Order: sequence, then structure tokens, then C-alpha cells
Amino acid sequence: MAGITNFMQGRSKRILVPGGAGYIGSHTCVELINRGYTPVIVDNFVNSSIASVDRIRQITGANDVPVIEADIRDTAEMVRVLREHECEAVIHFAGLKAVGESTAQPLDYYSNNVQGSLSLLEAMKQAGTGHIVFSSSATVYGTPVSLPYTESHPLAPTNPYGMTKYAVELMLNDLVASRAGINAGILRYFNPIGAHPSGLIGEDPNGVPNNLMPFVAQVAVGRRPHLNVFGNDYDTPDGTGVRDYIHVVDLAEAHIAALEKLLASPDSFTVNLGSGIGHSVLDVVKAFEQASGRDIPLEFVDRRPGDLPAYWADPTYAMELLGWQTRLTLEDMCRDQWAWQSGNPNGYPDVKIGAA
Ligand code: NAD
Ligand code: UD1
Repeated sequence: MAGITNFMQGRSKRILVPGGAGYIGSHTCVELINRGYTPVIVDNFVNSSIASVDRIRQITGANDVPVIEADIRDTAEMVRVLREHECEAVIHFAGLKAVGESTAQPLDYYSNNVQGSLSLLEAMKQAGTGHIVFSSSATVYGTPVSLPYTESHPLAPTNPYGMTKYAVELMLNDLVASRAGINAGILRYFNPIGAHPSGLIGEDPNGVPNNLMPFVAQVAVGRRPHLNVFGNDYDTPDGTGVRDYIHVVDLAEAHIAALEKLLASPDSFTVNLGSGIGHSVLDVVKAFEQASGRDIPLEFVDRRPGDLPAYWADPTYAMELLGWQTRLTLEDMCRDQWAWQSGNPNGYPDVKIGAA
């Protein structure tokens, strides 16, 4: 009976999802709908397509996914949306995320990521919305003092993007300590890759991908001739960089666990979201070749400036706190990435805002 009551209560809850049209946001919206929540998407589409919202509807069969084109820096509009939709919580993905670009245009990053989060929190206070899940990053740790990274590892980001994540973490911690009636779940993602198994939603980077997996997938589909492997002389088993890759659907599920933790208890938390397993660049290439049946030609080139040799998460606390751990493997990540890339070789179709 209690289970049924909780389910019915869950069905009616509306969750504001700034950045919900983007890569991780769209996958989280699918999981929210699967669990009986209604995501209310706010996005300015600076790095996403309205077509993703149509695909969310297609996957879930939900026709009632509200989507509002707005910038989170518009505090009054955020207050209006939170009130109109009676949102119980916020899962906040909206921000810019390209490390290189953040070094060239730091003020854009501080404006979107820090000022944007400040505006959103101000709106939550005004509207009386009491819970926020925030997308942080393993990049806040900086150069490893010890591995795996635990949540208590020192924080020392090495680029403006990482600094903006660190700044928002500090802001959230101070807000929580002030007892303003808001609790916060800070999620430090490791390397999200893969796509929904339907192949209908996935990562659709603008221009040349900065990150490994979208680049590999574009080589496999014939959009790029070969992969440049940035360094093969690291002190790692095969000399290439090692990362903790996490399937985006596992990551989306962790957001539901974090949301439900915040709804159930007043405590706030900061937690790593990773698998605890490191894979090298060559591991990823090999797994992708197997999943796609395509060759990935590669060339070894110089190390990318600023890259770390290897890092991975200690995921113990996520299991203890949220009862969550990854269940999908590198093979699953490559299979689903290939379903998305091969079904959408040029990403989302161009759709005019409001047409989806
Ligand atoms: P994404 O670019 O696909 O999604 C971000 C979304 O936010 C986009 O739809 C974009 O249009 C929107 N947006 C940006 N600025 C906005 C603003 N001012 N107002 C309204 N909407 C705005 O990125 P993603 O990979 O889905 O990442 C989501 C979040 O997770 C980001 O905050 C990112 O920094 C963080 N993160 C991502 C990764 C990763 O590898 N993808 C790793 C760690 C943390
Ligand atoms: C990058 C960001 C990090 C962010 C993370 C999210 C940088 C410096 N860091 O990290 O802040 O949190 O994405 O997923 O951009 N590689 C190649 N060839 C390529 C691309 C990548 O060999 O064309 C290698 C890299 O050297 C690295 C590994 O692949 O060893 C993973 O790279 P990437 O996907 O860019 O992620 P990170 O560097 O971990």
C-alpha cells in the first residue's frame, strides 16, 4: 500500500529541468517520465536541439512534456515557470562545458554557469522550491593527489570550466548552511558516454568533437578519416590515457536516486558518479570496433595540453548513500553509442523552435 501511495505521489511531481534538451538532460527526462515524474524543460538551445524533446516524447509516449525556451539567467522567468508548474525540485544541467572554449572565453563560462546558477537559486528561493540536484564534474579534483578520487580529495580545478563548477559547489554549500529551506545533491560525473538504447537520443556535438567517444563514433560512421590518440607514452598499461567512462543511462538513473534522496530527507550531499573502473583510449577503440563492426584508423600524436594521465572514481559513497551503482559495461556504452550514431549520422535534424 505504501508503495502504491508513493508511486501515485511520484506521478504527480513536476521537476524543473534546466538544460533538459541537452545530452545528459534528455536521458534524465526519459528516466523521470519512466518513474512517473513530469519534467518541465527549460533550455535556451545554445548547445541542443528542440528535436531531442520530440524524441523524449517518442521514447516515452508522454505527450505532456512542457518545454520553455528561456535562459536561466532570466530570474523572473524562472520564478514564473517554477510557480506556474508547481515544481517540487530542480535538476540543473544548464551550462557550458567545453574546457578549451572556457580558457578562451572565461567570462561566458562564469556568466552561464555561475551567474546562471545564482539566478536559478534566487528564483527557487522566491518560488519556495526546496530541492536541487546539480551537475558537477570530476574536473573539480584537478591533478590527483591519490587515486581513486574520493569525495574528500582536495579540490583544485585547472581550467575556467572546472572553476565554475567549483564556484557553484561552494555557493550551494553556503546556501544549504544558511538554512534557506533548500537542500542540494551535488553530483560529480566522471566521463559520460553512450546513448539511450533506442538510438533516438544521444550526444550531438557542434563542430569537431572535443571528447573521445563522439570522435570515435564519427570516425566509425565515415565523417572523419581517423582518430588522433593524444599520447601513447603515459605511465598506464598501454601508454594511452585512462578514464572512468559511465553509461549515460546509468548516470540518468543516478539523478532519480539523488532526487528521491533529497525529497525524502533534509540532508544535502556531494557524491561521485563513476564506475570505479578505468579504461584506456585503446580499450575504447577496440570495444567500439567490436560493437560497430567498423575499423577505427588511428594515429598517435602528442599529448593534449592539460590532460591527466589517468583517473577514476571511488564509487563507494554513491552505493552507500543512494543505493546506486553502474550496471552497464563499456560494451553496452559502445553498442548504444553506435545505435545513436549510425541512426543519426549527422545528429539531430534541424527543427525550428516550437515545431517539435
Ligand atoms: P549539453 O551541452 O548537452 O547540455 C547542456 C544544456 O544546457 C544544453 O541543452 C544547453 O542548450 C543548455 N544551456 C546552456 N546554458 C544555458 C542557459 N544559460 N540557460 C538555459 N539553458 C542553457 O551538456 P551535457 O553533456 O548534457 O552536460 C549537462 C551538464 O553536466 C553541464 O552542466 C555539464 O557541465 C555537466 N557535465 C557534463 C559532463 C560531460 O562529459 N558531458 C561531465 C561533467 C559534468
Ligand atoms: C574532458 C574534460 C573534462 C570533462 C570531461 C567530461 C578536457 C581537458 N577535460 O575530460 O573537464 O569533465 O571531458 O567527459 O577537455 N582523447 C584522444 N583523442 C581525442 C579525444 C580524446 O586520444 O580525439 C583521449 C584524451 O587524451 C583522454 C581520453 O581520450 O585520455 C578521454 O578524453 P575526453 O573524452 O576528452 O575526456 P577527458 O579528457 O577525461
